[in-house]
Amino acid sequence: MGIAAVILAAGEGKRMKSTLPKGLHPVCGVPMVELVGRALAGAGVDRRVMVVGHGRDQIQAAFSPEEYAFVVQEEQHGTGHAALMGAPALADYDGPVIISPGDTPLITSDAIQRLLLEHIQSDARATVATFHAADPAGYGRLVRDASGHPVRIVEHKDASPAERALTEVNSAVYCFDAKTLFAMLPKIGNQNAQGEYYLTDVLRLMAVAGMSTHAVVFEDPTLFQGVNDRWQLAEAAAILQKRIVKQHCLNGVTIIDPASTFIGLDVEIETEVVLEPMTVLEGSTRIGAGTCVMSFSRITDSTVGSNCIIKHSTLLKAVVGNEVNIGPYAHLRPKSTLGHGVRIGNFVEVKNAELGDQVAVGHLSYVGDAEVGAGTNIGAGTITCNYDGYRKHRTVIGEGAFVGSNSTLVAPIQISNGAYVAAGSTLTHNVTSDALAIGRARQVEKEQWAQQWREKNMKVQES
Ligand code: UD1
Ligand code: MG
Repeated sequence: MGIAAVILAAGEGKRMKSTLPKGLHPVCGVPMVELVGRALAGAGVDRRVMVVGHGRDQIQAAFSPEEYAFVVQEEQHGTGHAALMGAPALADYDGPVIISPGDTPLITSDAIQRLLLEHIQSDARATVATFHAADPAGYGRLVRDASGHPVRIVEHKDASPAERALTEVNSAVYCFDAKTLFAMLPKIGNQNAQGEYYLTDVLRLMAVAGMSTHAVVFEDPTLFQGVNDRWQLAEAAAILQKRIVKQHCLNGVTIIDPASTFIGLDVEIETEVVLEPMTVLEGSTRIGAGTCVMSFSRITDSTVGSNCIIKHSTLLKAVVGNEVNIGPYAHLRPKSTLGHGVRIGNFVEVKNAELGDQVAVGHLSYVGDAEVGAGTNIGAGTITCNYDGYRKHRTVIGEGAFVGSNSTLVAPIQISNGAYVAAGSTLTHNVTSDALAIGRARQVEKEQWAQQWREKNMKVQES
């Protein structure tokens, strides 16, 4: 049997001023409680219990029951009461259990691993992660006895002036012996300034009972930085963002301006990629080696191949091959698949379309619900008319075709391999391979018409 953890996420999070439960607010693209959950999993925790209350339906809907065992705390009577809710889910469990709040998104696997290791090595029943706070106001203070053993944690509101002078504070992340914790929790009271059942009280009960307790002092207080309002959310995101950007830099990615580059936690980037200032890469995006993402590009849930250039463009759920050149001002929408060496120019929109190798769509075009064969050139201002007001229809263009500028292709339509479409055509019928289709009025020329027109009008002005 592995290691268990209980995440406390039942609190209301009033200061977020949000209809979204606090734990679901994303930090660098991942919900806060999931960041805590991932840090736990990375430290070897394989049984994760989440205590939910406020907004519990939304939280439960965001995860699968295989990921977390959910337990409900109907009313929030304090962290001790919340932790006790986890007991039934771990009734069969004997071993160390990590307790962590759900609103500390910056916690890492390394920190949890260290806490676990020291807990096991010190043979303690309770190990608390602490740090020295520059401003300890609001935190629970760790009180140690003469020999340095932790004996209790006193909440700020309950602390004496002498206790308030202590700077070592409780991070609210702990490791307990599960059996001891769940046996002790029903014994704590709520005779305190907040009338709550404090989880911190079990430390005192254990010390009084002569059980060994331990504290691990962490150097980096940001690990435990809590999020209670949206400014703290932004501050946490900035710290996590810096960690993410740094890791990509160390992996061989050039990031010209880390402060204006936003990379989601799950984005994968290969070496020799260059990210210019003011770029956003989010979701499950992957960028291949040697690609340059130029300023003002936003790439979401997309896969981009190697050695591409993306200028000032928006990509959503698109798949882009190698050596593709996109933008500026291009918009690739979901289910756009671009082959090798494709060129997408300015003001081009592509949606649900498969573009073969070396296809060029240079300027001002809409290619939607379409298939374009390799080597085909789509002239400026070409529009696939895919929608009749009720249904979407497909445009299929073969290989090596040439669609002249300002063509209107009324779908469903098929333009076969090697065909030409004359510029300015409106096509409603299929075109056979290697044919030329012209769908426009024939040019008429009236000799001397302009000269006569001018003369006639001059006379009118003179009279
Ligand atoms: C807690 C600690 C304090 C520590 C501080 C660090 C206690 C009594 N105090 O105080 O020593 O320094 O964290 O930030 O534990 N929750 C529930 N149900 C409840 C109450 C809380 O699920 O009934 C959850 C909250 O959603 C939150 C977490 O527990 O994620 C912590 O609760 P919070 O009220 O923020 O505790 P603090 O007052 O910050
Ligand atoms: Mg708190």
